[in-house]
Amino acid sequence: MPASPFLQACRGERPAHTPVWFMRQAGRSLPEYRAVRAEVPMLESCFRTDLVVEITMQPVRRYGVDAAIFFSDIVVPLKAIGVDLDIVPGTGPVVAEPIRSAEQLTALRDLEPDDVGTITAAVEALVDELGDTPLIGFAGAPFTLASYLIEGGPSRDHRRTKQLMYSDPDLWHALLGRIARIGGQFLRLQVQHGARAIQLFDSWAGALSLEEYQTFVQPHSAAVLAEVADLGVPRIHFGVGTGELLGAMGEAGADVVGVDWRVPLDAATRRIGPERAVQGNLDPTVVFAPTEVVHERAARVIEAGKAAPGHIFNLGHGVLPDTDPDALARLVDFVHEYPVG
Ligand code: CP3
Repeated sequence: MPASPFLQACRGERPAHTPVWFMRQAGRSLPEYRAVRAEVPMLESCFRTDLVVEITMQPVRRYGVDAAIFFSDIVVPLKAIGVDLDIVPGTGPVVAEPIRSAEQLTALRDLEPDDVGTITAAVEALVDELGDTPLIGFAGAPFTLASYLIEGGPSRDHRRTKQLMYSDPDLWHALLGRIARIGGQFLRLQVQHGARAIQLFDSWAGALSLEEYQTFVQPHSAAVLAEVADLGVPRIHFGVGTGELLGAMGEAGADVVGVDWRVPLDAATRRIGPERAVQGNLDPTVVFAPTEVVHERAARVIEAGKAAPGHIFNLGHGVLPDTDPDALARLVDFVHEYPVG
C-alpha cells in the first residue's frame, strides 16, 4: 500500500504534499448530502450502513481529500446503548432525561459490538471502497458528551455541567469514567473494523481553565486514548477555544493535536512540544472571502505548520453549513500544490 500523506504527517513525517481534510466535510454544505438526507432523520441515517457509506464518500469524491471521516455523530454510541436522545435540526443533541444523579449512571452500560453492527459494517465497506485513502474513526470526549448528558442539550455556559463538577466530584468522576469506557469501546471497534486513525472531539473543553481540565477532564480523555494505544493508529485530539489547554491535550495521549483558528500553528507547537504533529487551523469563515484572501490565509497556515514535526491542514472547526463546496475544492487544490520544502 502506498504511504498515505495523512498518516505520514500524523507520525511526524513530511509527505510530498501537505495532507488536508475538513471536519464536517460531509454535511449540509453538500447538495448531494441534502439530497440523500431529505427524508431520513439524522440519527437514523447514522445507523444505516448504506447511508453512512454514501455520505462518508461524498466529500472524498468531490474534493480528493487525504482522509475520510466516517459519517456519524458523537452521541451515536450513547443512542446505541439505549439513551433516549435525538439530534434536533438547527439545535443539536437533545437528551430526554438529563443525567444528574448516581442512580442514572446505570443507563450508561458498556457498548457491545452488536449495538453498532450496522456501523461497523459501514466501516468495513468504506475501507474497501476508500482503497489507499485512510478512514478516520471518531468519538466525543468525556467532557463534551457529559455536557450534553447533564444539560440535556447544547449549552452556552455549561452551567449545570460545571455545577455538578464542583459540587459532586465523586459523581462527576463516575459519570466521566462511564462515558470514557463507552468512547474507548466505540473507537476500538472502529479501528478493529478498519479505521486507520482516530479523532477524539472535545469540542467544548475550551470552557475550562487548565487547572480544571487537568483535575476533572484530562484523566478521562487519557483513558479513552489509552484504550486504543495498542492498536497502533494515530490519535488526534481536538477542541475549540483550547489555546490554554493545548499542551495538556497532547499529554492526554495524542499523537496529533487539533488547533482552532485562534492560535497560529507555530505558537501552538511551542505549547504542545516537538514530539506531536498538529492539525488545523484555517478559520472556517475565511472560505467565504475572495479566493486570493483564502489562498493568502491558507499559505500562512501552511508556513506556520512547518514549525511542527508534522502538519495536517484542516479548518479550525467544522465546515459551516452554507459554505460553497467549490471554495473548499479550490482550497484542497491550493494546499496540495503549495511547496512543502
Ligand atoms: O464530516 C464529518 O466531520 C463527520 C460527521 C460529524 C457529525 N457530527 C455529523 C453531523 C462529526 C465528526 C460530528 C461530531 C460532533 N457532533 C461534534 C464534535 C465536532 C464539532 O463540530 O465540534 C459535536 C459537538 C456534535 C454535536 C452536534 N451534532 C451538533 C452541534 C450538531 C449540529 C446541529 C445543527 O443542526 O446545527 C449535530 C448534528 C450533526 N452532526 C449534523 C451533521 C452533518 C447536522 C445534522 C443535519 O444534517 O441535519
